[in-house]
Amino acid sequence: MRIYDIIANKRDKKELTKEEIDFFIKGVTEGTIEDYQITALLMAIYINGMNKKETSYLTMAMANSGDIADLSMINGIKVDKHSTGGVGDKTTLVVAPLVASFGVPVAKMSGRGLGHTGGTVDKLESIPGFNIAMPIEKFIENVNNINVAVVGQTGDLAPADKKLYALRDVTATISSIPLIASSIMSKKIAGGADAIVLDVKYGSGAFMKKLDDAILLAQAMVDIGEEVGRKTIAVISNMNEPLGFAIGNALEVKEAINTLKGNGPADFEKICIELSAQMLHLAGKGEVEELKTELHNRLNNGIAFEKFKEFIKAQGGDTNAIDNMDLLPKANKEISFTAENDGYISQIDAEKLGVASMLLGGGRAKKTDSIDYGVGIVLNKKVGDFAEKGSILATLFVNNEGNLNDVIELLKEAFCFSQNPCEKKPLIEKIIN
Ligand code: URA
Repeated sequence: MRIYDIIANKRDKKELTKEEIDFFIKGVTEGTIEDYQITALLMAIYINGMNKKETSYLTMAMANSGDIADLSMINGIKVDKHSTGGVGDKTTLVVAPLVASFGVPVAKMSGRGLGHTGGTVDKLESIPGFNIAMPIEKFIENVNNINVAVVGQTGDLAPADKKLYALRDVTATISSIPLIASSIMSKKIAGGADAIVLDVKYGSGAFMKKLDDAILLAQAMVDIGEEVGRKTIAVISNMNEPLGFAIGNALEVKEAINTLKGNGPADFEKICIELSAQMLHLAGKGEVEELKTELHNRLNNGIAFEKFKEFIKAQGGDTNAIDNMDLLPKANKEISFTAENDGYISQIDAEKLGVASMLLGGGRAKKTDSIDYGVGIVLNKKVGDFAEKGSILATLFVNNEGNLNDVIELLKEAFCFSQNPCEKKPLIEKIIN
């Protein structure tokens, strides 16, 4: 078999066979195919697409290109959740303990933030003492003992995807539905998931800016799940404004804790309940609507909060900082950002606020940057609210004022106003299963 012929086949819109795709991914992993041939094939796939079968073969070949997390020692159906990334997205902090409180194992590998999107690992690390790195044996032990553990990615999962992603990034081939879908699903499968709930975001703060594209991506991932024997459900949700009010690591932990005590922002609570209900449903715990009622109960009766504390304690975190949130990292200065005129808020550009939080030190422009856990932004208003001239739209939590002018410019651009009441788009647009 020759890579030359595989490139020619895809260029000529032919369906690639499993053998051809396996040959390609083996060559990528072992470094026996040149980068210029890899990128030629990626571009041919970008232009001519892949059908369901080809996309599943690609997914499984990438999943099998490195370590596969062996979670067979964990009892029960392991349902993973994956968000395609957004701003203020702290759902794992709430969903993981909530689902675990039903006795369903949540063995989660999470990532760090980059650019305008935050990462679960950074949020958890803002809790003093919390340990995100542990041997796989300890990870499994924690899940078997308390049903929940969250770690940073361990092992060499889907190395072929890592190599392909780096090449796609510099050859304008990222935004291809089969390539994105197989990239995400290969990592979930290598991470040991039996079933998967996907939170596919669309809008200004999301990877997919348009709803239609998010639906296509979600459908492609659900199709892969079906082809490879992993039950998969996708929830399409709106990221045209940040989720909840808080953006920034410790600020988001506080908002998650308030949510776990039944006092969370309505939009954030709603998506947490939806994702948890879908995960529990895939784990065989009942029907989605009935589960939602019980999930609400568990936010209000302390069960979810107690499970969260158990989880934090099991990973070395200081639970005093959970009971007394003043012990979490704090910025030393608060600055109000106010409305220049009266008006209804018609849009809050999530991406701009994500970048603003990053510039305050709450995120990374590049992988090696360090993080200031206490800084960020808390919104006072959401889309649809009326703001009077001079009223506070958001509070900035600041330690270093070096980028403050740029941050304020971004906030001015992020908030859009209308003189008339404006309709809010639904938070959850569609469920695909
Ligand atoms: N996230 C991924 O993991 N892969 C992609 O291709 C795009 C987003």
